[in-house]
Amino acid sequence: MTMGLARIGVVGGSAFSFPDGIEEGREVQIDTPYGQPSSAMTIGAVSGQKIALIARHGKDHSILPHAINYRANLWALGHAGVDCIIALATVGGIGKECSPGSIVVPDQILDYTHSREHTFSPLEGKLFHIDFTEPYCGELRRIVVDCADRLNIEVRASGTYAATQGPRFESAAEISKLAGDGADIVGMTGMPEASLAREIGICYATIGLVVNYAAGIGGNRISIDAIRRAYSQGMQNVNRLLTEAIARLEDFECAVPPVISP
Ligand code: HPA
Repeated sequence: MTMGLARIGVVGGSAFSFPDGIEEGREVQIDTPYGQPSSAMTIGAVSGQKIALIARHGKDHSILPHAINYRANLWALGHAGVDCIIALATVGGIGKECSPGSIVVPDQILDYTHSREHTFSPLEGKLFHIDFTEPYCGELRRIVVDCADRLNIEVRASGTYAATQGPRFESAAEISKLAGDGADIVGMTGMPEASLAREIGICYATIGLVVNYAAGIGGNRISIDAIRRAYSQGMQNVNRLLTEAIARLEDFECAVPPVISP
């Protein structure tokens, strides 16, 4: 039984908050069979829709990508009643049209992570396998891309997201291998978030903000200061896009059958 607190989930990346705030926002702490989520959930309204926001890295940005309790985050959102999630991610750019400042709505995933708690499927008992041919929800992605068109925000409407283990950035040779594998962008948190969402029947799409050229691509070393600058410039458009997409999700219907129910 879900709690019916919100229909739309937002998983915020580094330092995310809604610039105009969340109407009637309140904190709800949900304990899960998998432990504590990264943060209390903020429940409230944005663009007139009930949303639940989780800070992926914790409210004080202290949880490293490999240490995030993805299962607890996803389970908590599902238990709150969320049936679709827009995930925000900062990423490195590898492919064409993936320079710093650009926004990508990926349609495919390559998973290079390891040793993460990556499934709700029990080690013993009833095992399951999800279909992950299209790892992101096509309907949700279409809505985000339509909203970008409407707002005149340039987005790359597809692309392959490579999920790496972190917390370090990659070597130039690793990025060259990822490029050869077909990756357009690289980030550290996209998996197992996307597959866990599929396991519990939540539609999932990512808005990826490119904040740096991936290692060896731009000729320069990766600079945290430059990343911070690209982030604060790019987030204005990400926020506008997210707020518009949430408004458009009022009539969203796209049932993904859950394999387990939170
Ligand atoms: N690599 C991995 N994750 C990232 C990067 C990167 O270059 N930039 C932002 N997140």
